[in-house]
Amino acid sequence: MNHAITLHEITKSYDGFTAVDAFSLEVERGTVFGLLGPNGAGKTTLIKILTTLMRPTLGDAFVEGHSVLTAGKEVRRLIGVVPQENNLDRYLTARENLVLHARLHGMRPAAYNPRIDQLLEMTGLAARQHDFPDTYSGGMQRRLVVARALVHEPRVLFLDEPTTGLDPQSRRSLWDHIRGLRRSMTVFLTTHYMDEADALCDRIMIMDHGTCLADGTAAQLKDAFSRAHTYQVEFRRDADRYQGVLAGLSFVKGVEREGSLFQITLADEESIKPLMDHLCGSDIRRICLKEPSLEDVFISLTGEKVRE
Ligand SMILES: Nc1ncnc2c1ncn2[C@@H]1O[C@H](COP(=O)(O)OP(=O)(O)OP(=O)(O)O)[C@@H](O)[C@H]1O
Ligand SMILES: [Mg+2]
Repeated sequence: MNHAITLHEITKSYDGFTAVDAFSLEVERGTVFGLLGPNGAGKTTLIKILTTLMRPTLGDAFVEGHSVLTAGKEVRRLIGVVPQENNLDRYLTARENLVLHARLHGMRPAAYNPRIDQLLEMTGLAARQHDFPDTYSGGMQRRLVVARALVHEPRVLFLDEPTTGLDPQSRRSLWDHIRGLRRSMTVFLTTHYMDEADALCDRIMIMDHGTCLADGTAAQLKDAFSRAHTYQVEFRRDADRYQGVLAGLSFVKGVEREGSLFQITLADEESIKPLMDHLCGSDIRRICLKEPSLEDVFISLTGEKVRE
């Protein structure tokens, strides 16, 4: 069995509203899997089902071969969870939060103390370990929740928007750490940051309205879905005249202009040759293919409308 996580036709309904719709998925062991989707897409619902906080309406899911329906205890033993909302115990110090978690997982002091020292160091919280979480900044609390999820060395780590609210330094340090976990652990994360998914994930899935819209590596998604035939052309002079020329070409699907800089979307790859023929003799300062971003893919799949 090479799959750390298997979802089999998972459906979750709330009073007739379907938040997750017959969702199936297999995540290969030792990889970083990223789930992207607009607000309300169903990401947290899936994580809650996989971490046994919520039962699916239909279907079953397996973590390291254990069913979330019938073997919840085994699943909880093997996973680490960073929930979307921080859920630290505010009446315990940072270190005590980690110790409590270790003890709930049956660890002994000889095993958990050095591990906790190491995690506090890694998350930059060692100097503040005897303070209460309420005296921490939002980013520090987030880092403590991440440290807590790692205390018992889980086999599968679930991270629901792990870097929301973190400063750029902390984000990058967490990315480095997640990269270091790859192979020894399977990581399932959700994020709204396209650069994060791009930088971290071996595989990315974009979901909306409880179903999968796209699935692949960052490069595959960019290739398949984005405006791959958009070129940026900057003219040194005669920009107005070329605007007229471009508007009359049947293979030019769109033109956006900012001063002398044009963004030209072509019907297909073959259109670059006739475009060049029409621009022959013009005084071009710069021409380049606009590299698609994961954000272009995301917007083209999920639309521009803001979710409630
Ligand atoms: N307890 C609940 N009762 C009723 N509806 C719920 C409940 N929890 C979630 N929902 C609905 O299910 C849908 C999916 O919610 P979910 O929290 O999974 O989205 P999400 O993808 O994590 O979004 P976000 O990016 O905002 O965190 C939403 O429409 C939400 O309103
Ligand atoms: Mg969520």
